[in-house]
Amino acid sequence: MLVQAYNLMAHAFLLFLFFSYIIPANIHGCKQTESNSLLSFASTLSSPHLNWTSIDCCRWKGITCDQDGWVTRLLLPSKGLKGGISPSSLANLTHLTHLNLSHNLLFGSLETQFFLSSNRLEILDLSYNRLSGELPLSLPSSNIRTVDLSSNHFFGAIPSSFFQQASNLTNFNVCHNRFTGYVPSSICLQSSPSVRLLDFSSNVFSGNLALGLGKCSKLQVFRVGHNNLSGLFPEDIYYATKLEEIALPFNSLHGAISDKIVNLTNLAILDLSFNHFGGELPPNLGKLSKLKFVTFDFNNLEGDLPPSLMNCTNLVELRLGSNNLEGDISMLDFSRLTQLTKIDLRVNNFTGTLPVSLYSCRSLKAIRLSWNHLEGQIQAKILSLKSLSFLSLGANRFTNLTEAMKILMSCKSLHTLSLSGSYKGEGMPSNDDMVDFDGFQNLRVLTLADSNLNGQIPLWLSKLKNLEMLLLDYNQITGPIPSWLGTLPRLFYINLSNNRISGEFPKQLCRLPRLLYEPNITSQANQYEFELPIYVRRVNQPTIQSFSTQKLYFFPATINLSKNNIVGDIPTDIGQLQLLQFLGLDSNNFSGVIPNHISNLKNLEGLYLSMNHLSGIIPSSLASLNFLKEFNASYNNLEGPIPTGTQLQSFNASAFEGNPKLCGAPLPNKCGPNKGIDADKKNNKDMHNGLHQLPWFYIFTALGFIVGFWGVCGSLIINKTWRYAYFQFIDNLQGKVYVMVTVCINTMKKRLRG
Ligand SMILES: *[C@@H]1O[C@H](CO)[C@@H](O)[C@H](O)[C@H]1NC(C)=O
Ligand SMILES: *[C@@H]1O[C@H](CO)[C@@H](O)[C@H](O)[C@H]1NC(C)=O
Ligand SMILES: *[C@@H]1O[C@H](CO)[C@@H](O)[C@H](O)[C@H]1NC(C)=O
Ligand SMILES: *[C@@H]1O[C@H](CO)[C@@H](O)[C@H](O)[C@H]1NC(C)=O
Ligand SMILES: *[C@@H]1O[C@H](CO)[C@@H](O)[C@H](O)[C@H]1NC(C)=O
Ligand SMILES: *[C@@H]1O[C@H](CO)[C@@H](O)[C@H](O)[C@H]1NC(C)=O
Ligand SMILES: *[C@@H]1O[C@H](CO)[C@@H](O)[C@H](O)[C@H]1NC(C)=O
Ligand SMILES: *[C@@H]1O[C@H](CO)[C@@H](O)[C@H](O)[C@H]1NC(C)=O
Ligand SMILES: *[C@@H]1O[C@H](CO)[C@@H](O)[C@H](O)[C@H]1NC(C)=O
Ligand SMILES: *[C@@H]1O[C@H](CO)[C@@H](O)[C@H](O)[C@H]1NC(C)=O
Ligand SMILES: *[C@@H]1O[C@H](CO)[C@@H](O)[C@H](O)[C@H]1NC(C)=O
Ligand SMILES: *[C@@H]1O[C@H](CO)[C@@H](O)[C@H](O)[C@H]1NC(C)=O
Repeated sequence: MLVQAYNLMAHAFLLFLFFSYIIPANIHGCKQTESNSLLSFASTLSSPHLNWTSIDCCRWKGITCDQDGWVTRLLLPSKGLKGGISPSSLANLTHLTHLNLSHNLLFGSLETQFFLSSNRLEILDLSYNRLSGELPLSLPSSNIRTVDLSSNHFFGAIPSSFFQQASNLTNFNVCHNRFTGYVPSSICLQSSPSVRLLDFSSNVFSGNLALGLGKCSKLQVFRVGHNNLSGLFPEDIYYATKLEEIALPFNSLHGAISDKIVNLTNLAILDLSFNHFGGELPPNLGKLSKLKFVTFDFNNLEGDLPPSLMNCTNLVELRLGSNNLEGDISMLDFSRLTQLTKIDLRVNNFTGTLPVSLYSCRSLKAIRLSWNHLEGQIQAKILSLKSLSFLSLGANRFTNLTEAMKILMSCKSLHTLSLSGSYKGEGMPSNDDMVDFDGFQNLRVLTLADSNLNGQIPLWLSKLKNLEMLLLDYNQITGPIPSWLGTLPRLFYINLSNNRISGEFPKQLCRLPRLLYEPNITSQANQYEFELPIYVRRVNQPTIQSFSTQKLYFFPATINLSKNNIVGDIPTDIGQLQLLQFLGLDSNNFSGVIPNHISNLKNLEGLYLSMNHLSGIIPSSLASLNFLKEFNASYNNLEGPIPTGTQLQSFNASAFEGNPKLCGAPLPNKCGPNKGIDADKKNNKDMHNGLHQLPWFYIFTALGFIVGFWGVCGSLIINKTWRYAYFQFIDNLQGKVYVMVTVCINTMKKRLRG
């Protein structure tokens, strides 16, 4: 009996142990109301199926409960969730502390109800969805620490009461939305003194940055770039001494950068680019010894570079382009900036020579000093910069191009070399100069434009097997286009316009490998990114007014031979260059007919044939070039009807004028009854027999140039952002027309200031 009793007790005890283990697990189980709320949330999603089928909702994917079976976390980032978010069902999850639904496809708005009841919420991440609407009046609770609503479609002002209860808020990110009104810079005054990160960038906030940030004693990151802010830099920001990053680019802020900035000793990133900041740089800037990234491009800063800057030994990028800075930079000692990888001082008034001390910044990958008043020669010491990949020295007064090229060809990592407009009137480094040439092994972009260089296109260029872009326009180059140009395996952008090139269009150029086939995606040919941004305006896309790009493949495949003395036919082989996007043959001495084969160039967006001696009809197949946005065949000897269809009729009459025998829309003269047929016959005969029409005598006019000039200037004046586009593209790569740009900029500056 006793043994049995013991047995029983032991069993009971075991059972007790067993249940004490099991029962709490049951208690852990999800509450029915929570389960309902979750299912109601899931029911509003159209996809994908969440597999929330088991009984215990606490075990569902993405769900965490507390001991009492309340749902505390709902974490479903990047799950491809689609559908309208249902704040009312989420509002019933009253114990929620973490909600992360980022990187989905949710839409709908945040209703006040949700925020009212979620007063335990600590982390709210709804970033990267399609949520919209205005923000509720107030954040839910004093527990909230992180709010990330970035990359949605929210709009309206941030209500002044929004942060009232959020006393523990540390991270607030609303970048990439459409918020308007004032930036709530008083956030730390009453409500959220613990804020560390504030990101308001890429919205439409406007007005001044009000005082208040100075009270954010813990603020580390402040971003408000890409908005519509005006006024001065708020004076009290210099009290927020924990700041590590200030990024305000693309606004209209003005005023000087106060020397009080030295108070922000933790500052590592300072981006004030694309504003109207003026005055001199703070003389004690160099006391900010942690500075790594300094970006002041496109402001009105003036005066010398403060020598103390050379004490910022942690500097990684120094970008001060497009200001009014001046002074002899060869007097500065850059040698202690051992971390410096990028220096960009383009478009300023710096004088002196290329600072020798720069050659000891061994980390340098990119140097851009274009559009200054620098002089002297490049020294062989530059070869100690083993990582140098991007060198742009254009539009200065450097001399001895041959010597420069002889040195630089040994620069093994060089990808982009832009010397346009720096070596005015010198000779193109010839083959004799470059004996035993075995250099520029990695060169992808070479610009030697706008320099009045004389001589021929030298043979050593044929060894640049990685060359993708070659700009030699606005020189005095004579001789023919060498046929080997068509063998360079990666070349896709050639600009030889405005030279004195003679001879015929070499057939071999019609076999440029990069323009024949779709690029092989696995090959690396398309991958190059410039180390510094290039600002351009894409001519054929008026809607995209300007952009900055670091990707070489963003440039359209182009052959520009305009304004030379090239004679003979346009080869029929041209039809092989299927990937060509822009073809400029205007203002040459081309004769013969427009080959039908041009209609094989299905990617063609711009075709310029004006001011030649072309005859015969315009092939009707041209009307099938769907991407053609720009076309000009004016001032030739073309005849017959302009092929009908939507394409060619969409251009102005000016694209056809100066061809007296051409008829039909958009020209005002109507075609006679038989003209078309005659012309067609004639053209076919030409094509098959290869007969040449006699060159039609025409008067060379500067019309094209003048029209182009005012076209550009006009747009520059009208649209501020285009200034950057032209300004930069020119300095970076092109050179283009000095006069044009200088005049444009000056006119525009006057207009802006006046
Ligand atoms: C749901 O479960 C099914 C079958 O178990 C599975 O094929 C599917 O991938 C699951 N869906 C998700 C979103 O996990
Ligand atoms: C939320 O709870 C209330 C009652 O507490 C209920 O009436 C309502 O239907 C619930 N909403 C959802 C979406 O579950
Ligand atoms: C939300 O989830 C994503 C993906 O796991 C994560 O990167 C992000 O940091 C989370 N958000 C917060 C605020 O923790
Ligand atoms: C703020 O957070 C701290 C710790 O994280 C906590 O002790 C305090 O209660 C919170 N304050 C409020 C008002 O919730
Ligand atoms: C930008 O702000 C100015 C006033 O500062 C205002 O006139 C203009 O409409 C704003 N632009 C946008 C797009 O909100
Ligand atoms: C610098 O910051 C300290 C607080 O750290 C403050 O007392 C001082 O007034 C600030 N100086 C300036 C010039 O803002
Ligand atoms: C650079 O820092 C040193 C001390 O670290 C100081 O003596 C020197 O004056 C500073 N140079 C400039 C130009 O501020
Ligand atoms: C350079 O200085 C001259 C006057 O000395 C001024 O006209 C010009 O605008 C300045 N250029 C730049 C880019 O600041
Ligand atoms: C270019 O530099 C080299 C080496 O310094 C020199 O020998 C040569 O004379 C220079 N050429 C010109 C035209 O100055
Ligand atoms: C693409 O390029 C890779 C590497 O360069 C090469 O192995 C592959 O054969 C090429 N594919 C085609 C279709 O040309
Ligand atoms: C070629 O260069 C001329 C200037 O010489 C320019 O007007 C034209 O737009 C360019 N054409 C193409 C196809 O790039
Ligand atoms: C080619 O060079 C000319 C002259 O610099 C320039 O006007 C034209 O825009 C360039 N072509 C392209 C497509 O960039």
